[in-house]
Amino acid sequence: MGQAAGDMEAGKPMAQTCLGCHGLPSYTNVYPTYHVPKLGGQHPDYIVAALKAYKKGERDHGTMRAQAASLSDQDMADIAAYLTAQE
Ligand code: HEC
Repeated sequence: MGQAAGDMEAGKPMAQTCLGCHGLPSYTNVYPTYHVPKLGGQHPDYIVAALKAYKKGERDHGTMRAQAASLSDQDMADIAAYLTAQE
């Protein structure tokens, strides 16, 4: 991992927002008709890189830009650590 180590416990409360859309297999998806990429089982660096790209505007998606805008690099690493530990 090239990123700062994520703290899963710190990421857990922040990740609840994400899970509202990015439903994991063990969670009930509240938007059954809403297509979102699955995050569980992804590589943490991949999630952090995607969040940074949204924040900087390199990836253009209104919803995810709004999500990423308020996150610090450490927040992103923490959230990624939590999400990717879920299967
Ligand atoms: C309101 C619904 C919603 C919420 C809340 C949300 N996302 Fe997303 N997310 C999406 C959608 C829709 C996409 C696909 C966007 C696109 O096509 O670029 C996406 C894309 C992503 C991607 C890129 C995945 C890929 O394979 O390209 C990542 C990483 C991601 N979200 C992480 C998060 C994280 C972390 C959070 C919580 C901080 C979060 N999302 C909150 C809807 C949401």
